[in-house]
Amino acid sequence: MFPTILVVDDEATILQSLSGILSDEGFEVLTASNGYEALKLIDAESPDLVLLDIWMPGIDGIETLQEIKRTNPFLQVIIISGHGTIETAVKATKLGAYDFIEKPLSIEKVVVVINNALNFRQLEEENRFLRKKTLEKHSISGSSPPIQALKKQIAVAAPTEAWILITGENGTGKELVARTIHQMSHRADKPLIDVNCAAIPDELIESELFGHEKGAFTGATSRKRGKFEVANGGTIFLDEIGDMSLKTQAKILRILQEQNFERVGGTRTLTVDVRVIAASNKDLEKEIEKGTFREDLYYRLNVIPIEVPPLRNRTEDIPLLAEIFLKEFSEEEHCHLKAMTPQAIEQLKSYHWPGNVRELKNLVERLAIMTESETIGEDDIPPPYKSKDVTIPEAEIFDADSLKEAKKEFEKMYILQKLSENRNNISQTAESIGVERSHLHKKIKSFGIRL
Ligand SMILES: Nc1ncnc2c1ncn2[C@@H]1O[C@H](COP(=O)(O)OP(=O)(O)OP(=O)(O)O)[C@@H](O)[C@H]1O
Ligand SMILES: [Mg+2]
Repeated sequence: MFPTILVVDDEATILQSLSGILSDEGFEVLTASNGYEALKLIDAESPDLVLLDIWMPGIDGIETLQEIKRTNPFLQVIIISGHGTIETAVKATKLGAYDFIEKPLSIEKVVVVINNALNFRQLEEENRFLRKKTLEKHSISGSSPPIQALKKQIAVAAPTEAWILITGENGTGKELVARTIHQMSHRADKPLIDVNCAAIPDELIESELFGHEKGAFTGATSRKRGKFEVANGGTIFLDEIGDMSLKTQAKILRILQEQNFERVGGTRTLTVDVRVIAASNKDLEKEIEKGTFREDLYYRLNVIPIEVPPLRNRTEDIPLLAEIFLKEFSEEEHCHLKAMTPQAIEQLKSYHWPGNVRELKNLVERLAIMTESETIGEDDIPPPYKSKDVTIPEAEIFDADSLKEAKKEFEKMYILQKLSENRNNISQTAESIGVERSHLHKKIKSFGIRL
């Protein structure tokens, strides 16, 4: 298919000569002698590019350009004029014209500019496509009620300036939620800077966050901008805040209260405008009780709390997530797309997923690699993901300080496992493990299991 060019000019001779030349160059050519006709043709024929005269009776070139950009923002327009002034050129480019050519027209120049504009358009299209793909890849998938509620909360909170505290178990998607909030905020075109609070040693935290001047300490061989400075205008994502030492918490609290700071070894006070999103997989209220997390910092950060639900509470999302991860894997590895049998999916749905979505993603990749046939069946699912293999998360049990606690931990995991095998049906689970329904109910409550 040859690109279609629409030539708009009130001079018949120009239309004729340009049509001839452009057809010879292999383009399909449409012509219009005024702005109205041009807009109608664009509507009907969707050309790939428009050559537009400025001075025309009726609506002039600039007005036509405005209308084109309003209705077809991605259509490339090249302005031609015999009366071109620099101001008109600037105005046309500001309004979105790709380029400006003056009459008398040099045929070579017209062809070069047209080809450049068409190449540019193709690059733009590719770019849009890739961006969309990246966004899709990093979007929160799932349609279970807990995920729908989460998406709703995000949609409400994201466009505001409010600080947000995201909590949830390991691998539930906290970082994904933080990225989505940033993307949906007014700060989307400014940076999102993440700080892994657990990974920065106490003595480096100030230099990491506030930056330092050259020579501020041994090893500071040049000036370094801190994370808060780099994030200016955008969002700072304080990840794993539950794992910070009390000393670091005090330092973070100070900057969050004041939003201004000096670089280490510097004297100038810098003021920044950042939105803070924090995340933790710990129950911070419990940490406060234990004295390992500062209450004032908690209240400072927790303006809007968002809790990401564990995967075991939204098993209906598993089929879709598994499909997405299989597709992502086959695209990344350029290998054939594998499918999972409904029985295999059922097995996955009955597991309790302590590592949540990340664990599911890892398993799906592992299955995509290890399964030889094109279809992943029930028999390909390894332990402990198969429901008949009761899973005892050894580490947690052996972490218990007393036999009593270990028993409790085991009881909880056993109940969780049996509940998921019975799709969270309490009566059925009670029957299957030989206890009264009311007894199981009490246990579920005392262990804080949410169904
Ligand atoms: N709803 C979802 N849809 C698609 N992918 C998801 C979803 N939730 C999580 N993921 C994917 O699962 C993985 C883990 O997510 P993420 O890193 O956001 O979790 P996290 O809660 O920050 O984990 P951790 O507690 O270990 O820091 C990522 O690869 C992420 O893209
Ligand atoms: Mg994370």
